[in-house]
Amino acid sequence: MCGIIGYIGNDSATDIVVDGLKKLEYRGYDSAGVGVIEDGKLRVIKKKGRVKNTEEAIPKTLKSTIGIGHTRWATHGAPSDKNSHPHISQNIAVVHNGIIENYACLKKELESEGVVFTSETDTEVIPHLINKIISNSMSDTDNIKCEIFYFHSILKAIRKLSGSYALAILNTDFPDLIVCVKRGSPLVVSKSNTASFIASDVGVASKHGGEIFILDDDELALIKKGEVNFFDTRGREKKKNSIVYEKEENSDELGNNAHHMLKEIKEIPSAIHETVIGVKKCFFNLEKNKLKKIKKIVLVGCGTAYHAGLSAKTVLEKFTKIPSYVEVASEFRYSNPLIGKETLVVLISQSGETADTLAALELAKKKRALTLAVVNNTTSAIALGADSRIITRAKKEIAVASTKAYNSQLVALYSFALYLADIKQTMPQDQINALKEMLLNLPKAAREVIESGLDKINSDIIKIFKDEKAIMFLGRGIDYATASEASLKLKEITYIHCSAYPAGELKHGTIALIENNYLVVAYLTDSTLKDKTLNALYEVKARGAKVFAITNQDLPKDAYDYIYEVPRLGILSPIASIIPMQIISYLTAVAKEIDPDKPRNLAKSVTVE
Ligand code: G6P
Repeated sequence: MCGIIGYIGNDSATDIVVDGLKKLEYRGYDSAGVGVIEDGKLRVIKKKGRVKNTEEAIPKTLKSTIGIGHTRWATHGAPSDKNSHPHISQNIAVVHNGIIENYACLKKELESEGVVFTSETDTEVIPHLINKIISNSMSDTDNIKCEIFYFHSILKAIRKLSGSYALAILNTDFPDLIVCVKRGSPLVVSKSNTASFIASDVGVASKHGGEIFILDDDELALIKKGEVNFFDTRGREKKKNSIVYEKEENSDELGNNAHHMLKEIKEIPSAIHETVIGVKKCFFNLEKNKLKKIKKIVLVGCGTAYHAGLSAKTVLEKFTKIPSYVEVASEFRYSNPLIGKETLVVLISQSGETADTLAALELAKKKRALTLAVVNNTTSAIALGADSRIITRAKKEIAVASTKAYNSQLVALYSFALYLADIKQTMPQDQINALKEMLLNLPKAAREVIESGLDKINSDIIKIFKDEKAIMFLGRGIDYATASEASLKLKEITYIHCSAYPAGELKHGTIALIENNYLVVAYLTDSTLKDKTLNALYEVKARGAKVFAITNQDLPKDAYDYIYEVPRLGILSPIASIIPMQIISYLTAVAKEIDPDKPRNLAKSVTVE
């Protein structure tokens, strides 16, 4: 959700800010903007649409070494030039990620004092508020160019805001200073001897070398060239340690691939391999004694991460005999959940920054539950905030539709279920060992599914999906979880209405949708439920549906119209059986001329509620 960049150094600020925005575009791509100070004057260029629109509008002659930038996912106000950031009030420019929840009331107050607003955003109140506080509290003896006075005016303004924000603030009265502050939305600062850099994620901030600092909530940073000082919101200076960050090589490069999504599907085998190997190290750090006492597990996540939880629930209950529940994070956080010391709350998140999942973590901690983060980003708020963490080693995922992160989440969660079964002795040791061995062989199985998929999913198969208006996905048990993720994948990047149902629930309403030629995708990999799912296939076929079965079972020919075979991997099957639909979704989006990496209205990292 919205990306923020800032730079102060010796090089061209517009070049560096634009380059950073391109790397953060996965966070939102409704519009973009850049604000710099050139010869003491504020220059702001902002355009609706992708970063390249803003880039093309920047005059080649513009010279500046200090600037801020923003790539937007619209919350308040439609995507347009005027609603793009930075937002300005005279000499002050602000970029913002988050939502100012009391903006309407602040706007009313400011308007009553004569302020004229030029956008429909919540953000615009911030620069006006700072300016108003400066002018209202300045006495005849105050110097408008006094840094301490400016700093305290920002602190006063911040205290009036409620909601979430990561802000970078530029002011022509201080042409060598950017002020940053955050609450609830991520912000990272890096500094070398000659420059300082601000970004919404560590990966992008680290590109410029030097020391890296992750801002905490209610922390303020005064950033100059090669110098950063941190303060709390009462204005007291804070000492802050830089973090150690292992840089990922070439994660932004497409190589021979047309899109990041395709590249990321091809990276599934290595993501699985790295995760299987890496989780062992994570288990050393888990608190065995506390885990042994756990009586209930709640898995929480959003989108794809929620579906990983849905899949893991079945496995956890089977392996550990501990009652396990799955909740969408946005529901969990307001549900007053019945959890306590003997509950393990597992927070699943690729980015580790999703606002609802982060709030779920805070709630779980408040209720004294044991918290475990399953995250792909080691330096994220969820990773750092949980009692313990298991890292999915999928490396950076850029395409908005998650692929390799999902397969890695399944691997991490299934491995954790085995670990828990081991320490609680709820499964025979030989079965645990056999499953561990199978996990090690999974990358090979996944590679085969991907290679054969990219070979055999041709235009004939894509034709089955491409022009459909609605598609139903069915499955039972763990196959329902896979069907749910498959349905999400296809809908988010092809805009076809897809929904998933437990196969047995069909006849309680959903079957009314079925008519001649309605496409039903059926997942069937759990042999124990085969006959039951088959009943559902016959029921929809009897009403004219076309059935596309994804299975590793022998099915009677009259139960389907198309069959896609996946490997028999027992309870681990979902890790491979999702792959055909990841590939079909990708190729269908391409066939429909939709950018699969940046589907409309979505963002990779949702840092607002
Ligand atoms: C967004 C993304 C999804 C992702 C979800 C949760 O909606 O578009 O792909 O699954 O957020 O993200 P997280 O980073 O918490 O896994």
